[in-house]
Amino acid sequence: MTTKAFVIGNPIAHSRSPLIHGTWLQQHGIDGSYEAIDVAPDALPAFFDRLKSGEFAGGNVTIPHKEAVFALCDSVDTLAQTIGAVNTLIVRDGAITGTNTDYLGFLGNLDAGAPGWSDNLETAIVLGAGGAARAILTALQVRGVKSIWLLNRTETKARQLALELGPTITGAPLDAFADIAQGAGLVVNTTSIGMHGSRFDSLDLGFLPKSALVTDIVYAPLVTPLLAEARARGLKTVDGLGMLLHQAVPGFAAWFGVTPEVTPQLRQLVEQTLDH
Ligand code: ATR
Repeated sequence: MTTKAFVIGNPIAHSRSPLIHGTWLQQHGIDGSYEAIDVAPDALPAFFDRLKSGEFAGGNVTIPHKEAVFALCDSVDTLAQTIGAVNTLIVRDGAITGTNTDYLGFLGNLDAGAPGWSDNLETAIVLGAGGAARAILTALQVRGVKSIWLLNRTETKARQLALELGPTITGAPLDAFADIAQGAGLVVNTTSIGMHGSRFDSLDLGFLPKSALVTDIVYAPLVTPLLAEARARGLKTVDGLGMLLHQAVPGFAAWFGVTPEVTPQLRQLVEQTLDH
Protein backbone atom coordinates (compact mmCIF):
# COMPACT_ATOMS: atom_id res chain seq x y z
CA MET A 1 0.00 0.00 0.00
CA THR A 2 1.28 3.48 -0.84
CA THR A 3 2.45 5.43 2.23
CA LYS A 4 1.18 8.98 1.98
CA ALA A 5 2.46 12.24 3.47
CA PHE A 6 1.59 15.90 2.93
CA VAL A 7 2.36 19.51 3.64
CA ILE A 8 -0.55 21.72 4.63
CA GLY A 9 -0.51 25.51 4.47
CA ASN A 10 -2.45 28.43 3.06
CA PRO A 11 -1.19 29.33 0.50
CA ILE A 12 0.94 26.29 -0.29
CA ALA A 13 1.68 26.45 -4.04
CA HIS A 14 5.27 27.69 -3.59
CA SER A 15 6.34 25.05 -1.07
CA ARG A 16 9.56 23.26 -2.01
CA SER A 17 8.75 20.34 0.28
CA PRO A 18 7.08 18.17 -2.42
CA LEU A 19 10.27 18.46 -4.50
CA ILE A 20 12.50 17.51 -1.54
CA HIS A 21 10.43 14.55 -0.37
CA GLY A 22 9.58 13.47 -3.91
CA THR A 23 13.29 13.28 -4.74
CA TRP A 24 14.00 11.13 -1.69
CA LEU A 25 11.03 8.83 -2.40
CA GLN A 26 12.33 8.24 -5.90
CA GLN A 27 15.94 7.79 -4.75
CA HIS A 28 14.98 5.13 -2.22
CA GLY A 29 12.43 3.42 -4.46
CA ILE A 30 9.72 3.85 -1.85
CA ASP A 31 6.07 3.29 -2.70
CA GLY A 32 5.04 6.62 -1.24
CA SER A 33 3.68 10.06 -2.05
CA TYR A 34 4.06 13.56 -0.66
CA GLU A 35 1.52 16.15 -1.70
CA ALA A 36 0.92 19.84 -1.01
CA ILE A 37 -2.61 20.44 0.26
CA ASP A 38 -4.08 23.90 0.61
CA VAL A 39 -6.03 23.96 3.87
CA ALA A 40 -7.73 27.20 4.91
CA PRO A 41 -7.72 27.94 8.67
CA ASP A 42 -11.43 27.09 9.08
CA ALA A 43 -10.92 23.74 7.32
CA LEU A 44 -8.17 22.60 9.70
CA PRO A 45 -10.41 20.59 12.10
CA ALA A 46 -11.95 18.69 9.17
CA PHE A 47 -8.48 17.92 7.85
CA PHE A 48 -7.53 16.47 11.25
CA ASP A 49 -10.62 14.23 11.14
CA ARG A 50 -9.39 12.98 7.79
CA LEU A 51 -5.95 12.31 9.33
CA LYS A 52 -7.43 10.16 12.06
CA SER A 53 -8.86 7.83 9.42
CA GLY A 54 -5.30 6.68 8.75
CA GLU A 55 -5.07 7.93 5.15
CA PHE A 56 -1.65 9.54 5.82
CA ALA A 57 1.46 8.53 7.79
CA GLY A 58 1.92 12.20 8.62
CA GLY A 59 3.05 15.45 7.15
CA ASN A 60 4.37 18.96 7.50
CA VAL A 61 2.59 22.05 8.69
CA THR A 62 3.45 25.51 7.52
CA ILE A 63 2.18 29.08 7.67
CA PRO A 64 -0.38 29.92 9.05
CA HIS A 65 -1.06 26.67 10.93
CA LYS A 66 2.07 26.11 13.03
CA GLU A 67 0.41 27.29 16.25
CA ALA A 68 -3.22 26.34 15.51
CA VAL A 69 -2.45 22.62 15.11
CA PHE A 70 -1.33 22.46 18.75
CA ALA A 71 -4.88 22.14 20.02
CA LEU A 72 -5.81 19.53 17.40
CA CYS A 73 -2.94 17.10 18.04
CA ASP A 74 -3.47 14.20 20.47
CA SER A 75 -0.02 14.95 21.89
CA VAL A 76 2.74 17.48 21.31
CA ASP A 77 6.28 16.52 22.31
CA THR A 78 8.32 18.55 24.81
CA LEU A 79 10.52 20.09 22.14
CA ALA A 80 7.59 21.51 20.17
CA GLN A 81 6.03 22.72 23.41
CA THR A 82 9.20 24.59 24.36
CA ILE A 83 9.47 26.08 20.87
CA GLY A 84 5.75 26.88 20.80
CA ALA A 85 5.20 25.64 17.24
CA VAL A 86 4.53 22.34 15.46
CA ASN A 87 5.87 21.80 11.93
CA THR A 88 5.66 18.02 11.67
CA LEU A 89 2.80 15.58 12.35
CA ILE A 90 3.16 11.85 12.82
CA VAL A 91 0.07 9.61 12.71
CA ARG A 92 0.19 6.23 14.47
CA ASP A 93 -2.89 4.09 15.14
CA GLY A 94 -5.16 7.07 14.58
CA ALA A 95 -3.31 9.25 17.12
CA ILE A 96 -1.61 12.44 15.92
CA THR A 97 1.67 13.59 17.49
CA GLY A 98 3.12 17.03 16.82
CA THR A 99 6.82 17.81 16.83
CA ASN A 100 9.19 20.50 15.59
CA THR A 101 12.09 19.73 13.25
CA ASP A 102 13.17 23.35 12.57
CA TYR A 103 15.45 22.95 15.54
CA LEU A 104 17.25 19.98 13.97
CA GLY A 105 17.20 21.74 10.61
CA PHE A 106 19.09 24.70 12.03
CA LEU A 107 21.68 22.47 13.73
CA GLY A 108 22.04 20.13 10.73
CA ASN A 109 22.63 23.07 8.41
CA LEU A 110 25.38 24.62 10.54
CA ASP A 111 26.99 21.26 11.33
CA ALA A 112 27.24 20.57 7.60
CA GLY A 113 28.19 24.10 6.51
CA ALA A 114 30.55 25.05 9.34
CA PRO A 115 31.68 21.90 11.18
CA GLY A 116 32.68 22.56 14.79
CA TRP A 117 30.83 25.92 14.83
CA SER A 118 29.52 25.43 18.38
CA ASP A 119 32.81 24.27 19.94
CA ASN A 120 33.80 26.93 22.47
CA LEU A 121 31.10 29.28 21.20
CA GLU A 122 30.55 31.63 24.14
CA THR A 123 28.37 34.38 22.72
CA ALA A 124 25.80 34.45 19.91
CA ILE A 125 23.52 37.16 18.56
CA VAL A 126 20.03 36.23 17.33
CA LEU A 127 18.18 38.86 15.30
CA GLY A 128 14.38 38.70 15.57
CA ALA A 129 12.03 37.37 18.24
CA GLY A 130 9.29 35.60 16.25
CA GLY A 131 8.40 31.94 15.80
CA ALA A 132 11.57 31.02 13.94
CA ALA A 133 13.73 32.59 16.67
CA ARG A 134 12.23 30.27 19.29
CA ALA A 135 13.47 27.09 17.60
CA ILE A 136 16.91 28.59 17.03
CA LEU A 137 17.28 29.91 20.58
CA THR A 138 16.38 26.46 21.90
CA ALA A 139 18.96 24.86 19.59
CA LEU A 140 21.69 27.26 20.74
CA GLN A 141 20.87 26.58 24.37
CA VAL A 142 21.06 22.82 23.83
CA ARG A 143 24.50 23.28 22.19
CA GLY A 144 25.65 25.03 25.37
CA VAL A 145 26.12 28.59 24.08
CA LYS A 146 26.71 30.49 27.31
CA SER A 147 25.37 33.89 26.40
CA ILE A 148 22.78 34.72 23.74
CA TRP A 149 21.82 38.27 22.82
CA LEU A 150 18.32 38.45 21.38
CA LEU A 151 17.99 41.66 19.39
CA ASN A 152 14.65 42.76 18.03
CA ARG A 153 13.05 45.83 16.47
CA THR A 154 10.39 45.63 19.20
CA GLU A 155 12.53 45.41 22.30
CA THR A 156 9.71 44.32 24.64
CA LYS A 157 9.17 41.17 22.54
CA ALA A 158 12.85 40.29 22.85
CA ARG A 159 12.79 40.81 26.60
CA GLN A 160 9.63 38.72 27.00
CA LEU A 161 11.01 35.83 24.98
CA ALA A 162 14.31 35.99 26.87
CA LEU A 163 12.43 35.78 30.17
CA GLU A 164 10.43 32.82 28.92
CA LEU A 165 13.30 30.78 27.51
CA GLY A 166 15.78 31.26 30.31
CA PRO A 167 18.68 33.07 31.92
CA THR A 168 21.28 32.58 29.16
CA ILE A 169 19.28 34.90 26.86
CA THR A 170 19.28 38.71 27.11
CA GLY A 171 16.76 40.80 25.17
CA ALA A 172 17.82 44.13 23.66
CA PRO A 173 16.98 46.46 20.75
CA LEU A 174 18.63 46.04 17.34
CA ASP A 175 20.87 49.07 17.85
CA ALA A 176 22.63 47.28 20.71
CA PHE A 177 24.49 45.36 17.97
CA ALA A 178 27.39 47.82 17.81
CA ASP A 179 28.11 47.44 21.53
CA ILE A 180 28.00 43.65 21.75
CA ALA A 181 29.20 42.49 18.32
CA GLN A 182 32.89 42.40 19.18
CA GLY A 183 32.35 39.53 21.62
CA ALA A 184 30.10 37.46 19.34
CA GLY A 185 31.13 34.30 17.47
CA LEU A 186 27.81 33.80 15.67
CA VAL A 187 25.07 35.99 14.21
CA VAL A 188 21.75 34.44 13.12
CA ASN A 189 19.08 36.38 11.24
CA THR A 190 15.64 34.94 12.01
CA THR A 191 13.65 37.92 10.73
CA SER A 192 12.16 38.18 7.26
CA ILE A 193 14.64 40.95 6.40
CA GLY A 194 16.64 39.86 3.38
CA MET A 195 13.66 38.55 1.43
CA HIS A 196 13.43 40.28 -1.94
CA GLY A 197 16.71 42.07 -1.20
CA SER A 198 15.51 44.03 1.84
CA ARG A 199 18.22 44.94 4.34
CA PHE A 200 18.79 46.02 7.94
CA ASP A 201 18.94 49.82 8.27
CA SER A 202 22.05 49.95 10.40
CA LEU A 203 23.81 46.75 11.31
CA ASP A 204 27.53 47.23 10.99
CA LEU A 205 29.18 43.84 10.64
CA GLY A 206 32.54 45.62 10.91
CA PHE A 207 32.17 45.35 14.70
CA LEU A 208 32.31 41.53 14.60
CA PRO A 209 35.53 39.60 15.19
CA LYS A 210 37.11 38.21 12.00
CA SER A 211 36.36 34.66 13.17
CA ALA A 212 32.58 35.22 13.41
CA LEU A 213 30.08 33.10 11.48
CA VAL A 214 26.98 34.75 9.98
CA THR A 215 23.91 32.73 8.99
CA ASP A 216 20.44 33.57 7.72
CA ILE A 217 17.16 31.65 7.70
CA VAL A 218 16.02 33.52 4.60
CA TYR A 219 16.94 31.44 1.52
CA ALA A 220 15.32 33.43 -1.28
CA PRO A 221 17.56 35.01 -2.36
CA LEU A 222 20.19 32.48 -1.38
CA VAL A 223 22.73 35.20 -0.70
CA THR A 224 20.87 37.83 1.29
CA PRO A 225 22.32 41.35 1.61
CA LEU A 226 23.42 40.38 5.15
CA LEU A 227 25.34 37.34 3.91
CA ALA A 228 26.79 39.30 0.98
CA GLU A 229 28.15 41.92 3.36
CA ALA A 230 29.54 39.28 5.71
CA ARG A 231 31.33 37.60 2.79
CA ALA A 232 32.70 40.91 1.58
CA ARG A 233 34.20 41.40 5.03
CA GLY A 234 35.81 37.97 4.94
CA LEU A 235 33.49 36.43 7.54
CA LYS A 236 32.29 32.82 7.33
CA THR A 237 28.70 32.40 6.16
CA VAL A 238 26.11 29.62 5.91
CA ASP A 239 22.97 30.29 3.85
CA GLY A 240 19.44 29.33 4.87
CA LEU A 241 18.62 26.72 2.22
CA GLY A 242 20.28 23.95 4.21
CA MET A 243 17.91 24.55 7.11
CA LEU A 244 14.94 23.87 4.83
CA LEU A 245 16.56 20.67 3.57
CA HIS A 246 17.70 19.39 6.97
CA GLN A 247 14.38 20.07 8.71
CA ALA A 248 12.78 17.66 6.22
CA VAL A 249 14.97 14.70 7.25
CA PRO A 250 13.31 13.64 10.55
CA GLY A 251 9.80 13.80 9.07
CA PHE A 252 10.71 11.64 6.09
CA ALA A 253 12.39 9.12 8.43
CA ALA A 254 9.29 8.93 10.65
CA TRP A 255 6.80 8.47 7.79
CA PHE A 256 8.74 6.33 5.35
CA GLY A 257 11.17 4.48 7.66
CA VAL A 258 14.38 5.55 5.88
CA THR A 259 16.69 8.38 6.97
CA PRO A 260 17.43 10.36 3.80
CA GLU A 261 20.55 12.39 3.04
CA VAL A 262 20.92 16.05 2.19
CA THR A 263 23.21 15.81 -0.84
CA PRO A 264 24.72 18.54 -3.04
CA GLN A 265 22.49 17.24 -5.86
CA LEU A 266 19.32 17.77 -3.81
CA ARG A 267 20.51 21.22 -2.87
CA GLN A 268 21.14 22.06 -6.50
CA LEU A 269 17.72 20.80 -7.52
CA VAL A 270 15.97 23.06 -5.00
CA GLU A 271 18.34 25.96 -5.67
CA GLN A 272 17.25 25.96 -9.30
CA THR A 273 13.71 26.84 -8.19
CA LEU A 274 14.83 29.93 -6.23
CA ASP A 275 15.09 33.51 -7.47
CA HIS A 276 18.65 34.69 -7.68
P1 ATR B 1 8.34 34.06 12.13
O1 ATR B 1 7.30 33.19 12.79
O2 ATR B 1 8.65 33.67 10.71
O3 ATR B 1 9.59 34.23 12.95
P2 ATR B 1 7.12 36.50 13.03
O4 ATR B 1 6.67 35.80 14.25
O5 ATR B 1 6.16 37.41 12.34
O6 ATR B 1 7.65 35.50 11.94
O7 ATR B 1 8.44 37.33 13.41
C1 ATR B 1 9.06 38.15 12.51
C2 ATR B 1 10.32 38.78 13.16
O8 ATR B 1 10.93 39.60 12.18
C3 ATR B 1 10.03 39.68 14.35
O9 ATR B 1 11.09 39.60 15.26
C4 ATR B 1 9.95 41.07 13.69
O10 ATR B 1 10.23 42.13 14.57
P3 ATR B 1 9.07 42.80 15.49
O11 ATR B 1 8.90 41.87 16.65
O12 ATR B 1 9.58 44.11 15.85
O13 ATR B 1 7.83 42.85 14.62
C5 ATR B 1 11.05 40.93 12.66
N1 ATR B 1 10.88 41.87 11.54
C6 ATR B 1 10.07 41.75 10.49
N2 ATR B 1 10.21 42.79 9.64
C7 ATR B 1 11.15 43.62 10.19
C8 ATR B 1 11.76 44.86 9.80
N3 ATR B 1 11.43 45.48 8.66
N4 ATR B 1 12.71 45.39 10.61
C9 ATR B 1 13.08 44.77 11.76
N5 ATR B 1 12.54 43.58 12.17
C10 ATR B 1 11.60 43.02 11.41
